[in-house]
Amino acid sequence: MATRLFANIGELTTNDPRLGDESAMGRIPNAAMVVDEQRVLWVGSSRDAPEADEFTDVDGVAVVPGFVDSHTHLVFAGERSTEFEARMSGERYDGGGILETVDATRRATRDELRSATATRAVALRKSGVTTIEIKSGYELTLEGEQRLVEIAGEFSDEVTFLGAHTVPKEFAHDREGYVDLVAGEMLTNCAPHVRWADVFCDTGVFGVDEARRVLLCARDAGLELRLHANQLGDSGGVGLAIELGCASVDHCTHVSDGDLDALSSCETVATLLPGAEFSTRTPYPSGRRFLDAGVTVALATDCNPGTSYVTNMSLIIALAVREMGMTVDEALWAVTRGGAKALRRDDLGHLGVGARADFLILDAPRAAHLAYRPGGNVVHQVFRATR
Ligand code: NIG
Ligand code: FE
Repeated sequence: MATRLFANIGELTTNDPRLGDESAMGRIPNAAMVVDEQRVLWVGSSRDAPEADEFTDVDGVAVVPGFVDSHTHLVFAGERSTEFEARMSGERYDGGGILETVDATRRATRDELRSATATRAVALRKSGVTTIEIKSGYELTLEGEQRLVEIAGEFSDEVTFLGAHTVPKEFAHDREGYVDLVAGEMLTNCAPHVRWADVFCDTGVFGVDEARRVLLCARDAGLELRLHANQLGDSGGVGLAIELGCASVDHCTHVSDGDLDALSSCETVATLLPGAEFSTRTPYPSGRRFLDAGVTVALATDCNPGTSYVTNMSLIIALAVREMGMTVDEALWAVTRGGAKALRRDDLGHLGVGARADFLILDAPRAAHLAYRPGGNVVHQVFRATR
């Protein structure tokens, strides 16, 4: 496999604390990096760089790890701009609009869904996302959910079964019957195509007992667990995620000090999704509060047609810094190493030797420009290792 040396990197963020300034960011000034098509082979000072088959001078710009977007709902049809406009005129989000997307998605052909998903995946990629987690959850039928996880699998290895996204219309008077279906046959159909299971555990959606039931069945089927919780209210979902050892608990807009205390002493990552607060015009969770409590924080786009039609990770970084009390470095870490931890991936989100060669060449001398020039095109080139 050919090796390639990137030299004259003005500022290299490795996220490997054994490197460079030995901070969490593992930052090296005047750096160089050698990769092959799959892995990082060497990182260090430009002056110590070894020979390689190919040579690229990046002219003093910054290089950072590729973004790991650990929470998206990328496979859907239709759009909900009318609902967004209504919210911007004062209406509240309660999750009800999901059913509109379910109708549109059920009507779409496999090719239509594939091409809509590809468009969004390309937009995310251009913004610097090199790994995307993708959930099902917009068909809510036996065959439909299977179709969604199969399509998601064409775009990612990190696919999540979210049959328990909401109760579909045909089960409006039999929610228990729907939970039975999700935890039974639907799970059995989807399990071979996914790594993860998730439930929208929140006020007015699925309760803690329903979520526990689905997740325990998913675990029995060999899946790993993650959970939507505490977006709409203090639903008890954070406690459930910790109880079940979920890799990540996502949203966490409403959390108590007790939740933070518990999160700080376990492996469960808190994934904050500021695109949702932005698009529902609701107060952001304080990232500062989580970090000061010692909680591991990830940030993700939550790309979905209802609450966060966001396909640009730089916006998420800017929101976290400007609205959630996070420093630029904390936000950058949360969209790289944090996202990787939320997916239990040690090979992603950093540029230490042996990591996947997923990295971004910025059109900027420092990574801070990702937040400093919001809306600008700071990500110049995206390199993604062959899988
Ligand atoms: O993560 N919270 C649940 N699911 C999505 C929203 C789904 C929708 O409104 O379509 C979210 O915000
Ligand atoms: Fe979500």
